[in-house]
Amino acid sequence: MKIKKAIIPIAGKGTRFLPATKEIAKEIIPIINVPMIHYIVEEACEAGIEQVIFVTASGKFAVEDYFDRNQELEAFLERNNKHKELELIRKIGSMVDVTSVRQKEQLGLGHAVLCAKNMIGNEPFAVLLGDDIVVNQTPAIKQLMDVSLTHSGATVIGVMEVPRNETNKYGIVKGEVINEKTLRMTGMVEKPKPEDAPTNLATPGRYILTPEIFSILEKIPRGAGNEYQLTDAINVLCQTRDVYAYRFEGDRYDTGNVHGYLDATIDFALRDPEVREKFLASLKQRLNKHGISL
Ligand code: G1P
Repeated sequence: MKIKKAIIPIAGKGTRFLPATKEIAKEIIPIINVPMIHYIVEEACEAGIEQVIFVTASGKFAVEDYFDRNQELEAFLERNNKHKELELIRKIGSMVDVTSVRQKEQLGLGHAVLCAKNMIGNEPFAVLLGDDIVVNQTPAIKQLMDVSLTHSGATVIGVMEVPRNETNKYGIVKGEVINEKTLRMTGMVEKPKPEDAPTNLATPGRYILTPEIFSILEKIPRGAGNEYQLTDAINVLCQTRDVYAYRFEGDRYDTGNVHGYLDATIDFALRDPEVREKFLASLKQRLNKHGISL
């Protein structure tokens, strides 16, 4: 079954990015000149998603506005013959059908996904987390969709290896190896200490889920951090259903923290043919200026 809907939870307060996030939705903070949320929605669109459901909170209106038309700006650009810019912002305004639902209390990722239940109905769907940007020719979420299709529409969770001492930042999976990239999952645990982690396979925010997850989310108790965890619901699901973990390909950035954000900015500048040369020149100049030789 084709996956047409994606849930993107954006209700988080972005505390790792204060003070910027005091007044600005963290999803709107740009990498160079493109808001981070643009990359997430673009990944979903390139994978064939037709409707994005933002699970949102107060102070996030700018995210919805960003994907809407801005007639006033369009008219201004038109009057001033700025055709390239006009085309750019029109394209963003018609990128995808956007709806949103409020998460009235911050009770965790599991709760956020459950908030979108009525918008999903009885079909499989994708979940993409906004702090994790993945760059790859074939979008990470598309890779998971393809794996799901080859396993009769099963739940598939994107994973990547992380250093042992970082398991406490992620949901960590365990399972039986099917092939080099795929596991049939036997369990999943939220943010285990390194000494308790069953593996170092972490889930950086890409999921293909089936609607049966909702009835589990309605029943699970609060878990790690006293929140309702999506991880705990997936752990329950894989006791009775085939659930797969797939090591997707791509460069992944945790843009929710300052260093991940910087890595992304540098890589995006180096990948962009219009920015690269000047960026390299100014980087060299600046290293010199600060007396740094590499
Ligand atoms: C959430 C999930 C966790 C996942 C992580 C990826 O945690 O609960 O399982 O591995 O996102 O970024 P958070 O980072 O929101 O605390």
